[in-house]
Amino acid sequence: MAMFASNILTEGPVALIGGPSSGKFAACQIEAALDDGGRGHSRMDTFADYIGYQEFFLERTKYNLGYPANLEFDYGALSQLQPFTINNAGDPFIEGNYCIHSRQFEVGVLDWFAGLWEIEKDEYWGYTTSGGSEANLHGILIGRELFPEGILYASRDSHYSVFKVARICRLDCVKVDTLVTGEIDCADFKRKLAMNKNKPAIINVNIGTTVKGAVDDLDLVIRTLEETGFTRDRFYIHCDGALFGIMMPFLKHAPQVSFKKPIGSVSVSGHKFLGCPMPCGVQITRLEHINALSSNVEYIASKDATITGSRNGHAPIYLWYALNRKGHKGLKKDVLQCVKNAQYLKDRLRRAGISAMLNDLSSTVVFEQPRDEGFVRRWQLACEGRIAHAVVMPNITVEKLDEFLEELIKGRSSWYRDVKVQPPCLAEVIGPANCLCPLHK
Ligand SMILES: Cc1ncc(COP(=O)(O)O)c(C=O)c1O
Repeated sequence: MAMFASNILTEGPVALIGGPSSGKFAACQIEAALDDGGRGHSRMDTFADYIGYQEFFLERTKYNLGYPANLEFDYGALSQLQPFTINNAGDPFIEGNYCIHSRQFEVGVLDWFAGLWEIEKDEYWGYTTSGGSEANLHGILIGRELFPEGILYASRDSHYSVFKVARICRLDCVKVDTLVTGEIDCADFKRKLAMNKNKPAIINVNIGTTVKGAVDDLDLVIRTLEETGFTRDRFYIHCDGALFGIMMPFLKHAPQVSFKKPIGSVSVSGHKFLGCPMPCGVQITRLEHINALSSNVEYIASKDATITGSRNGHAPIYLWYALNRKGHKGLKKDVLQCVKNAQYLKDRLRRAGISAMLNDLSSTVVFEQPRDEGFVRRWQLACEGRIAHAVVMPNITVEKLDEFLEELIKGRSSWYRDVKVQPPCLAEVIGPANCLCPLHK
């Protein structure tokens, strides 16, 4: 959510929504609030109201279409935990010396995901991370520890965290082409593997790409490795399921991520589809791999195979609560609703003559980038090149989509009033069949 954060830093909530006066935003200067002979404390009691953040967040929450975050939840029952410094530093399965932790909830959550991705309790290891990016770092790092000479293969449409991991781990990274859907192009993958047959392969497989919501064909990736002569002891697959890793298991006929296949790790974000109010994630790997990373740490009386030191102990409780409240039935209902609403959005866009694409089983709708920066910011759309996308999450109702469509259609009628300005051609990016530019209509 880089755009969101930088707006707060550079302009403040005020400038974006025309809320409280910009003078109040100065309260963000810590010195100003605290250098107050101790009286700053009483001002801090009404902190959220004082600087207008509550209003700002409430308003902005209504208009997030571009970033995958389920903003509909009620964690009121957990508010009593707020005064506690809950820290799960170290290994989730080992009791350390710091007692204000939530390991029992963390392990409950991990067991749940282990069941979802089909690995026995005594065969997996995992932990709750700060998000999908850290989980990608952890997964690929295991691959690197197992295969120090390995090459990382990732499709061009992989999340930027994957390429950052390659730099952090000083891994040679080969970018693989993608199909127009955003899926990894296994013909190109095969060519590139064949050129590096002497080096083990570490592969990032996308279970839902960031921009197009495309799912890489895991079975085909495995087949491609085998056909190119890579036996199971010479490759490691990390599955990045940040958004879709928890949605796909609830869709009939969807290809499945499973540890019954030769994969090494799977990760998911907790603040996306599940709707945790703080960024968090889950990483699951095979127990046999974790020794490559694990070391004893006397100071915390535990083992450490995680990336960070201190770990958010509130997050596992929120994850546990969300999973318990919804259960398989509730999650499935939400997934089906998202997919149905995404289909609705795509159909309505197309009917209005707007280029749009929706991958099978996905809830990420890709369409032409709106020409007005103010519109893009109002709806918090994520844009790349000539396209934008809307990620339909459980809080995005048909009414919300109608409001969005109405504004977009109205906006376009003025952006393209002058016939010399035409909607962009997206044939190359989303395929000619999905493009409704003047040439492809
Ligand atoms: C495919 C994919 N992987 C990883 C991430 C990073 O997840 P997080 O924001 O939880 O770090 C994202 C975020 O959008 C994503 O789409």
